[in-house]
Amino acid sequence: MKFFNSIILSGLLSAINVNAETTTTTNNSCSFSRTTISASTGIQQLNSCPTLDGTISITGNDISVIDLTAIRQLNADLTIYNSSTINVVLVNQIENITGLLEFNNLTQLTTVELTSIKDAQNLEFVSLPNFANLNLNNEVLKAGRIILSNTALSNLNGLALFDTIEYMNINNNKNMSQLNFESLKNVSDSLILSFNHNQAQVNLNALNWASNLTIQDVVDFSATNLTSVNGSLQISYNTFETLNLSSLTSIGSSLQVFAHDDLTEVDFGSLTSVGGELSFFNNSQLSNMLNTFKSLQRVDGAVSISGDITNLSMPALQRIRGDFQLNSTSEDFDCEEFNQYHEDGDIEGNNYICSYAVYSSIETDGSTSTNTGSSETTSSDGNRASGVEKSMIPNIAVVVVGIMFGVLML
Ligand SMILES: *[C@@H]1O[C@H](CO)[C@@H](O)[C@H](O)[C@H]1NC(C)=O
Ligand SMILES: *[C@@H]1O[C@H](CO)[C@@H](O)[C@H](O)[C@H]1NC(C)=O
Ligand SMILES: *[C@@H]1O[C@H](CO)[C@@H](O)[C@H](O)[C@H]1NC(C)=O
Ligand SMILES: *[C@@H]1O[C@H](CO)[C@@H](O)[C@H](O)[C@H]1NC(C)=O
Ligand SMILES: *[C@@H]1O[C@H](CO)[C@@H](O)[C@H](O)[C@H]1NC(C)=O
Ligand SMILES: *[C@@H]1O[C@H](CO)[C@@H](O)[C@H](O)[C@H]1NC(C)=O
Ligand SMILES: *[C@@H]1O[C@H](CO)[C@@H](O)[C@H](O)[C@H]1NC(C)=O
Ligand SMILES: *[C@@H]1O[C@H](CO)[C@@H](O)[C@H](O)[C@H]1NC(C)=O
Ligand SMILES: *[C@@H]1O[C@H](CO)[C@@H](O)[C@H](O)[C@H]1NC(C)=O
Ligand SMILES: *[C@@H]1O[C@H](CO)[C@@H](O)[C@H](O)[C@H]1NC(C)=O
Ligand SMILES: *[C@@H]1O[C@H](CO)[C@@H](O)[C@H](O)[C@H]1NC(C)=O
Ligand SMILES: *[C@@H]1O[C@H](CO)[C@@H](O)[C@H](O)[C@H]1NC(C)=O
Repeated sequence: MKFFNSIILSGLLSAINVNAETTTTTNNSCSFSRTTISASTGIQQLNSCPTLDGTISITGNDISVIDLTAIRQLNADLTIYNSSTINVVLVNQIENITGLLEFNNLTQLTTVELTSIKDAQNLEFVSLPNFANLNLNNEVLKAGRIILSNTALSNLNGLALFDTIEYMNINNNKNMSQLNFESLKNVSDSLILSFNHNQAQVNLNALNWASNLTIQDVVDFSATNLTSVNGSLQISYNTFETLNLSSLTSIGSSLQVFAHDDLTEVDFGSLTSVGGELSFFNNSQLSNMLNTFKSLQRVDGAVSISGDITNLSMPALQRIRGDFQLNSTSEDFDCEEFNQYHEDGDIEGNNYICSYAVYSSIETDGSTSTNTGSSETTSSDGNRASGVEKSMIPNIAVVVVGIMFGVLML
């Protein structure tokens, strides 16, 4: 049933040439229920409403400039999508977005002006390959959820000024090389910075507390004041050599560090607890982890670490509640410390593996092959403990099998 109750609206529905199911208006506020606009006359009519409510879409190839400069308050969900002609969107008087403002799949969009915005609940800019100019008020005070994905933006300008954000996902903006959030202190849901410019630099030095943090494909990352991650921390596919989060004391859920080819040094020197799993893999140059976890006392999930690790120590360890798997491809790795923790019952999970490479020289031709020294126990399928020996070679001079602990306790 179509329903509208106002004289101000006469003419509006005819200009909006697609389905406006319910439209109401009071003096200066218009409310739309699932309204789609695809002609510029419809835009002009929208622009006669200082406040917009409801659900409004603008799409199609008959519009180039969207001028909504008379609108002051956006309570509606306004989505502008699927157009190869829209190139400029002007919303210069909007101060407050309590709904959603979304731009999606607009191949010719170059410019959005949001120069009065102070408070934006939900802003999305997605698949806008030519979108390079976002003119924002540089006093944006507050933001809820912000997504910037696959745009041509080269900086964050006003979007990096907040001291608190709820959710921000900035990914695949290949021209964006500086992601500096110099005032950001608190991320109450998630901050995801992934696969932007391949020389992207991230500065989160004011950040103190984050729920979830994901950093991918950056060349430089610092978060010197970060003390607490309440959810998960994921660091992957980056090209820096040092990861220093030496102020971080606790991670509520998981810690994952993987897929790095340049990383040689990792400092989680103040980290005392990880509430979920702790996982390190595919970090091809990371071998010395002697001082990485100086203060780590407790891991509530599983520990799973693999790589060419020569040394790793957890001198403060009190308890690992989950499984423990440490596979080193280095022959220099010594499992002694962890075997001892396991023997003492400090590693509680059913599956315990600590393995390292053993190089066995064959004296006749000088070639080498790799064996594995290992300590492994499982109790899930009955008591089992084994030294793992792969590829036995006849006449090998040395085969070292890692010492087995723990089976007597099970
Ligand atoms: C709109 O009109 C209603 C009554 O019709 C009034 O109560 C309200 O204050 C008006 N709003 C504004 C912003 O003028
Ligand atoms: C945009 O166009 C594509 C392809 O025509 C379609 O699948 C998609 O649903 C459209 N998006 C929206 C929001 O309608
Ligand atoms: C993007 O919009 C165009 C129309 O401009 C449409 O043809 C295309 O299918 C859309 N692509 C997606 C992924 O929705
Ligand atoms: C925006 O609107 C919301 C809801 O009405 C209000 O709580 C908030 O204070 C407003 N923000 C600004 C900057 O006016
Ligand atoms: C984005 O980067 C590409 C090459 O990396 C460059 O050709 C293009 O001009 C840049 N666009 C903007 C808006 O800076
Ligand atoms: C950050 O925000 C969360 C959620 O609102 C809050 O629980 C936490 O105490 C805040 N942390 C700081 C350091 O302000
Ligand atoms: C880091 O925290 C200290 C102490 O709270 C503060 O003085 C300093 O300004 C913070 N650094 C940044 C970059 O905000
Ligand atoms: C912190 O994490 C815990 C456990 O995951 C959750 O219950 C709590 O709500 C989180 N706190 C905030 C402020 O997000
Ligand atoms: C963010 O972390 C909180 C705990 O602080 C968790 O409950 C929530 O599911 C996480 N969100 C995402 C998207 O990972
Ligand atoms: C990490 O940063 C802290 C504080 O700046 C510093 O003391 C420490 O030596 C750094 N760790 C590494 C491995 O560089
Ligand atoms: C880790 O490395 C292996 C072997 O190179 C590869 O197959 C796998 O995809 C990598 N995993 C990730 C998450 O990069
Ligand atoms: C360690 O090696 C064992 C045996 O080859 C394998 O089952 C396990 O998945 C490996 N764990 C890690 C973390 O690489």
